Amino acid sequence: MEKKDIDWSNIGFGYYQTDERYVSNFKNGAWDDGVMTKDANVVMNECAGVLQYAQTCFEGLKAYTTEHGKIVTFRPDLNASRMANTAKRLEMPPFPEDRFVEAVEKVVAANAAYVPPYGSGATLYIRPYMFASSSVIGVKPAEEYQFRMFCTPVGPYFKGGAKPITIRVCDFDRAAPHGTGHVKAGYVKAGLNYAMSLHAIVDAHNQGYDENMYLDAATRTKVEETGGANFIFVTKDNKVVTPKSDSILPSITRRSLMYVAKEYLGLEAEEREVKFDEVKDFAECGLCGTAAVISPVGKIVDHGKEICFPSGMDEMGPITKKLYDTLTGIQMGHIEAPEGWICKIC
Ligand code: PLP
Ligand code: COI
Repeated sequence: MEKKDIDWSNIGFGYYQTDERYVSNFKNGAWDDGVMTKDANVVMNECAGVLQYAQTCFEGLKAYTTEHGKIVTFRPDLNASRMANTAKRLEMPPFPEDRFVEAVEKVVAANAAYVPPYGSGATLYIRPYMFASSSVIGVKPAEEYQFRMFCTPVGPYFKGGAKPITIRVCDFDRAAPHGTGHVKAGYVKAGLNYAMSLHAIVDAHNQGYDENMYLDAATRTKVEETGGANFIFVTKDNKVVTPKSDSILPSITRRSLMYVAKEYLGLEAEEREVKFDEVKDFAECGLCGTAAVISPVGKIVDHGKEICFPSGMDEMGPITKKLYDTLTGIQMGHIEAPEGWICKIC
């Protein structure tokens, strides 16, 4: 299969239309069989539930070309189950998890020419999503839904790739306590949670910051996450620490990194409450997620007061680098993966 003529090493994190996507409709209480289509447009009623009351959710995962030229995805079953949890919280019918994984396989295989080559620094980002497609005018869940999945080749989420970024402590909350930012399953990937964060990210960029650090909405003393990634900190004695909270997204990357830290690198790794006051004492800080991979944070600004990590603004700290190399090594096939983490497509 011939790859598309794309300057893989210089693409950013944007939408690039690919050839085929998957669509399934929920009607009369059941999901239909689903089809692949070349049509990238969605046509719906002016009163569709997604347009009126934002009944929509999404996921994000990636496909990689391994060093042996195979195309693989990383733990798609976890995206399938997280999306089912999100759907339940939004009164949407969960898309069957086995069919979610099959749809990932179909979408990636159909767009194999867009999966960036090994070593290019780019990957194929897969975006499953679901929305209320039938009309609602009284506030209630819709009767009909559409599940779609498209993919787009992407480069680094933050400009500059692995260069450390600067973030600020944010005064806005992106989700209400006890709303969809605070449920048993954690923060859910509901479109509305991201809509709530748009003003904060535009404001952060206008002030020269790359991202926002959100603190817990109730007491503003504990570290939560950023708009699109979880935190990983490293203590001065090389312990990996990640914040524990019911109101952060249960990141698949973070869960994988905690395993990698313990089982591959022999480090202590703990998920616990992290007080903002102790952040100044950490040696390294990084943001982790599918889009972010692990992006090192060099500096956090809290209302003019700077916290500069000893790892500096030039490169990743040594433990962050080891975590990054091991995780990407597993994804790219040159480090053996734990059972079930890698899903071969072709
Ligand atoms: N936190 C938020 C708010 C996110 O949107 C994401 C992205 O999905 C993450 C964290 C990282 O999660 P994952 O590693 O599962 O992509
Ligand atoms: C992801 O990492 O997949 C996300 O969904 C983050 C998103 C805000 C780009």
